[in-house]
Formats: sequence, structure tokens, C-alpha cells
Amino acid sequence: MNLNLTRDELVRSQNFIGGRWCDAGSGALLAVTDPADESLITQVPDSDAIDARAAVDAAHKAFASWRATPAKERARLIKRWNDLIVEHQEDLGRLISREQGKPLAEGRGEVLYAASYVEWFGEEAARAYGDIIPAPVTGRRMMALKEPVGVVAAITPWNFPAAMIARKIAPALAAGCTVVCKPAEDTPLTSLALVRLAEEAGLPAGTLNIVTASRAQTPVVVDAWLADSRVRKITFTGSTPVGKHLARASADTLKKCSLELGGNAPFIVFDDADLDAAVDGLMASKFRNGGQTCVCPNRIYVQSGVHDAFVERLGQRVGALKVGPASHPDSQIGPMINARAVDKIARHVADAVAQGARVVVGGQRVRNAVANGPHYYAPTVLIGATKDMELSCEETFGPVAPVFRFVDEAEVVALANDTPFGLAAYFYTQDIARASRVADALESGIVGVNEGALAAEAAPFGGVKESGYGREGSRYGLEDYLHIKYVCQGGLR
Ligand code: SIN
Repeated sequence: MNLNLTRDELVRSQNFIGGRWCDAGSGALLAVTDPADESLITQVPDSDAIDARAAVDAAHKAFASWRATPAKERARLIKRWNDLIVEHQEDLGRLISREQGKPLAEGRGEVLYAASYVEWFGEEAARAYGDIIPAPVTGRRMMALKEPVGVVAAITPWNFPAAMIARKIAPALAAGCTVVCKPAEDTPLTSLALVRLAEEAGLPAGTLNIVTASRAQTPVVVDAWLADSRVRKITFTGSTPVGKHLARASADTLKKCSLELGGNAPFIVFDDADLDAAVDGLMASKFRNGGQTCVCPNRIYVQSGVHDAFVERLGQRVGALKVGPASHPDSQIGPMINARAVDKIARHVADAVAQGARVVVGGQRVRNAVANGPHYYAPTVLIGATKDMELSCEETFGPVAPVFRFVDEAEVVALANDTPFGLAAYFYTQDIARASRVADALESGIVGVNEGALAAEAAPFGGVKESGYGREGSRYGLEDYLHIKYVCQGGLR
């Protein structure tokens, strides 16, 4: 395992429960591999229900004192955690890139992106204001107080192994909740390193607990949390089928849920768009993280008048992208996370081509002296995409940009909304009336107008329809970890 870190002890290979690093009770292990070549990086615990319950025991025990800790002190510890994350940007960036596969520049960028949420919620901790409500009768004081919901179970994905954990755990801690966390089986090392830094920042024992588990053991761990009435909230980023399962299964104990689920983002280019800006926006939003992003455009709708010009410019830019491992300084598109991911991309492209789409650039797996592994797929542009193709109905989650031609605004808005999902949507136009009309008409939690990079710590991130509910980031992100207690004090006269 050569990760070239300045601090090797950031690579943890144990769970962290109640302030102690420990193995899974069973001693079982999960292999963590490099997606570039499937080589072994290290092993971490393959936890079970007993480990999962131990984590809740610790979080539950710590809750009483953490919620009673003044917000200013919670904020101090969270901000210290942020400082340590920023200080270790290079090491964390290397860990992200190694286990997740994104180019090192993106790995470094993700660390600062993650830290921005930690800093933001460190500042928001002191702003969980309630209300004094004017009483309808004399002699009463009526108050709406904000309280932490309790123990939070955070289940995080592999595509942004630092940012997703940060934007769940930081608001939970800021609100006064304690946390049990299970990172994705493909990328546990970044999360463990972040927890190590939280420990160093001085978070009290039991406040933040983490257990790792394989794909096979994940349901065992999560079911233990779902069944446990002490866990009062589930926060999850991942697929819609899993999100629906969590919503159903948490109904028995009526947990609060925040579900950030799948998307199928439309990206619309109108005839009156600034084409260069639209191509730049698409490159930024579609090819970030190799297209493995919930908000990345999945369906590119281009109006007839600019279709050919847009495709030509897009094809040139996409054809110039360099594919290779995270460690290679020129890489812009890394390996996909695993064999299932690259198989799905290949299946979507094959289905589209069989139904009449034409490959402008890419369209096949890549394996060569630089991209020397089984998980690489060429950045691809397809034209002639139609709504019956698999890639129109389902997230491809890879570097494939299918272009659909459209004629008028009403048609494209109907096409864009013709999906059960509603996470992000983008469109480019220079007509200001159209900008507000289309933004209103799109059924989506996030809309980019002449902008491809939407997420920020100060902005609410989340979907509508089957893309889930709850918001992360922004002042709304704190509310998701609080409930309202109404206190009515009588006899005041
Ligand atoms: C995601 O893919 O779920 C998150 C993407 C982002 O934060 O931009």
C-alpha cells in the first residue's frame, strides 16, 4: 500500500465507536481496491449488526451531553475539524483519488468542497433560532424551540467520499445530534480519515461513530439501524430503489429521513443560447468525476437551429479529454468505480446505437498503456438519441452525452419533465422572459440557468419527485436535523 501521504496514520483500517478504533467483532474484513487496476489498497472491517448496534449505543450515550453543549462550543470543535481538513488537503485528495478514481486535481478540489460544508455548518450551529409566538390570550408565553432530532444514521455514497459525508455529518453535529455513519463499501478510507481528523479536533467520544461494511453486509448494518428506535433520523445519498426501501423500513419507528436519490438531469440548449457558454457548462457539469454525479446532465436537448454547430463544438472538446488513472498528471477522466458501472455504460451505449443513435466520438471501452485497467470508458457524444432509449430513462452515471434534437420550447419542457426524477436541470438561453418561464416550468429541485456548476455550501441541494426529499447545505440543511418543540408557559399573571 503506497499512498504517498505525508501522514500515514490517516489511513485507518478499523471502525471508530465510542471514541475507540476497533475491529469488527467477527474479525471479518473488506478489501478496498484501486478502481484503476483493481489492486488491493488495504482492508477495513466488514461489520455486522452487533457492530452497528454498538455504534448506536455509543451515539445514544453521547447524545445527552452533546445536545447540552453550548452551540458556541460545538461550533468551535466543528470549525477546528474544518481547519484540519483544509490542512490535510493534499493527503485527503490523494486518498479520494486512489480509492475513488477521480483525477488528483478533482480529489484536491473535493477536499475543499467538503470543508466548505463543515465550515458553513460550524457557523450555522449558533443560528438554530426558534420563535416567540404572540399569545392569543393573556398570561401565556408561547415558544417554538429548535431541538436536535437525536441519533442520526448517515449512509454515504462513493462518488464524493469526502463531500457527502461532510454535508451530512457537519449539520448533524451543529444541530446537537450524534452520528453513526456507514460509508460506501468502495470508498471507506476517505471517511475514516475524516473521522480521524474529527477525533483530533476534539469531538467527544461517541459523538461521531463509523462502521464499514461490504456490499453483502451493508443491509445487515443498515437494517440494525432501521430497527433501532434510538436512531431518529436517516440521511442517505444513493439510488432511488434503496431510498424507497429506507423510507418504508424507517416508517416502523417513524424516523425523519433526508433522501438524496437518483437524477436524470435534462440540459437544454435553446437557439438563442451563447453556444460557447453552453458547451463550457456541459463540459463542467457532465464530465466532472467522469460523469459519476447525481446532478450531471443525462439528456442533452439541443434546438434544431444550433444542433449541428453545438454538436461539432462539443465533439471536439470531448474528443480531446484525456483518459487515465488518477495518479497520471494529464488525466481528466479516471476509471469508473467498478465493473458494474462500466458494464452499465456499455449497455446504455449499445442499446442507443441499436435504436439508431450515432456515435460522434468515443462509444467504447478504453484500455491502453496509460489507462491500463478494466474500468475505463471513452468520453462519448451520441446524436439521434430518443426517449425510448435506456439512457433516456435511467442515469448512465458515466462520461456519455446523448444529444436529442428538439423544435420548440413547450415540447422540450414536456420532454424534460417526462421522468419520475427531479434532482437537477440546466438550460441555456439569452432571452430573459424564457429564462424565468422555463425555470418555473421545470420539475426539479435544482435549476441552472446559463450555469453548469450549481452546488455550493450556501445553496440548498436536493430533489423533488422520486429524486427524494430534504435539503443539504444552506440554512435549510440545518433544519433537517432539528425538530420544533412548542412550549406554552401559562400562569404568567
Ligand atoms: C452527488 O452526486 O450526489 C453530489 C454532487 C454534488 O455535490 O455536486
